[in-house]
Amino acid sequence: MPAELSPIDKAKFAAARRAVDFVEDGMKLGLGTGSTAAWMVRCLGEMVREEGLRITGVPTSSRTADLARQVGIRVVGLDEAKWLDLTIDGADEFDPELSLIKGGGGALLQEKIVATASDQMIVITDAAKEVAQLGAFPLPVEVVPFGWQTTRALIEEMLVSMDVLGRSTTLRLNGSQPFVTDEGNYIVDLHLNRIANPRQLSLVLNQIPGVVENGLFIDICDMVIIGGADGKVEI
Ligand code: 5RP
Repeated sequence: MPAELSPIDKAKFAAARRAVDFVEDGMKLGLGTGSTAAWMVRCLGEMVREEGLRITGVPTSSRTADLARQVGIRVVGLDEAKWLDLTIDGADEFDPELSLIKGGGGALLQEKIVATASDQMIVITDAAKEVAQLGAFPLPVEVVPFGWQTTRALIEEMLVSMDVLGRSTTLRLNGSQPFVTDEGNYIVDLHLNRIANPRQLSLVLNQIPGVVENGLFIDICDMVIIGGADGKVEI
């Protein structure tokens, strides 16, 4: 473990370190986005450089692509890889059914496409992200910039009609400007408190014109590895 890590980084590193034990020579891997996933990419880079591990990585964001190249991982696009053996990614929340909220880092669209095109998805996290019911973390929804205010109004109308507890939404900002995703879209964060039926909400959100994708990952994650600040992990 690298020296001088904060307790939270120790937990993230521990989860990432355990996850790469599932990586085998020759695998095609989806590389997630975020601070926990970055530890996994660094661990893989070390295995490539020092142990001669041969892997092909499909990054889920430009940030991850830059880091993967930097640490020596061979990077290709999803269409070149076609199908992946395993995706390892972080999450913002996970529940007992392994449903997730993702997109805190703004990469939910590529993350969902890549994880869906994988035989298996492992989520790496710390214990603070475990919840009985999803929704305390604002749910990111990626929307196209054209008519985004109308799309947001339609989302709010839908939340009222579904009698969802929290109904406030915010446009994600980068300074004073809208945050723009790698795909050139905006993100509207939904402050819902609790999501009673994630599956239904995900389906309804994706039917609204202007919505590209939402951060609910249902039936996609196969395993969660929870890292602790003492370096121990729980699966
Ligand atoms: C990015 C994500 C990340 O996986 C999620 O935000 C967790 O990030 P971190 O590991 O930095 O806490 O979904 O879109």
